[in-house]
Amino acid sequence: MIIVTGATGTLNGATVDHLLKRVSPHRIGVSVRDPARAAHLVDRGVRVREGSYDDPANLRHSFADAEQVLLVSSSDLSADVAAQHRRAIDAAVDAGAKRILYTSAHGTAFDTPYPPLAIHAATEQYLADSGVAWTALRNGFYGDLAQLLGPWQKSGVIAMPADGPFSWVDRRDVAEAAAVILSADDPFDGPVDLTLPEPVTLADFAASASEITGRRIDRVVVDDETWLAEATSSGVPEAAARFTLSMFQATRGGHFSGSRPTLTHLLGREPRSITDQLKDLDFR
Ligand SMILES: NC(=O)c1ccc[n+]([C@@H]2O[C@H](COP(=O)([O-])OP(=O)(O)OC[C@H]3O[C@@H](n4cnc5c(N)ncnc54)[C@H](OP(=O)(O)O)[C@@H]3O)[C@@H](O)[C@H]2O)c1
Repeated sequence: MIIVTGATGTLNGATVDHLLKRVSPHRIGVSVRDPARAAHLVDRGVRVREGSYDDPANLRHSFADAEQVLLVSSSDLSADVAAQHRRAIDAAVDAGAKRILYTSAHGTAFDTPYPPLAIHAATEQYLADSGVAWTALRNGFYGDLAQLLGPWQKSGVIAMPADGPFSWVDRRDVAEAAAVILSADDPFDGPVDLTLPEPVTLADFAASASEITGRRIDRVVVDDETWLAEATSSGVPEAAARFTLSMFQATRGGHFSGSRPTLTHLLGREPRSITDQLKDLDFR
């Protein structure tokens, strides 16, 4: 069976939807914290079992019969996330999985200013040491464009700290790619970069936004301390603002400047570009 964790979350929920188009539902199982939220999958013939990274016993039960297990990277910021990932990997090994896949991140490395990358690097290291075949789906950045770009629709400017090249992917595309990898005849070993064909910068976002709206949208670089002060005075908790700043610092350090055509090949089409993604926004 192919077991997917985090299937009540956005990314892996979409991966299960794509998987259902490719393999029989009887070959798919999900391991979720709240099975009541996966009733729609039971209706489609998917095995739903309760599993939490904080409970090794129920996790092992939810991984039973697994040939492959796809582990979501935990979103529980109150937890020791690296320890949760180690428990999840141990449970998959104990359950006899032949391959463990993990939703990692593009640019993963121990020595970057952006803290999640070190957690991903430690998890990948643990996978490599597990003795089981593994695949790290190194997804480009995705998420809320308003958080990335600020209130540009109102202000006409993308006023953010200095950035460097990075990949901003559509989460639906990397979810689909995960399903392609899980159902492929030939396995993908080790890290797989799932990026745009070419990296982008916030200046590219400004150019795309100008093109789409017919208005002039400028990219304005705000120095780090000024940006931090403005963010915190507008109510963003300082820790959250510093976290966002660390992402920009990592982009300008070149940590995300590499890109590969793998996502394009897996999808059999170009991934959704930043222009496509901006067009999805509500411009009313
Ligand atoms: N590449 C990027 O730019 C980017 C951006 C945002 C997030 N991420 C990472 O990618 C992951 C998936 O993204 P997403 O958009 O699908 O986020 P999401 O919708 O918040 O999903 C996170 C999933 O993690 C599950 N989870 C949290 N703690 C868990 C635990 N203790 N045991 C088992 N499962 C647990 C959640 O379970 P429930 O459904 O029960 O809540 C949820 O299904 C995130 O968790 C985060 O680590 C990456």
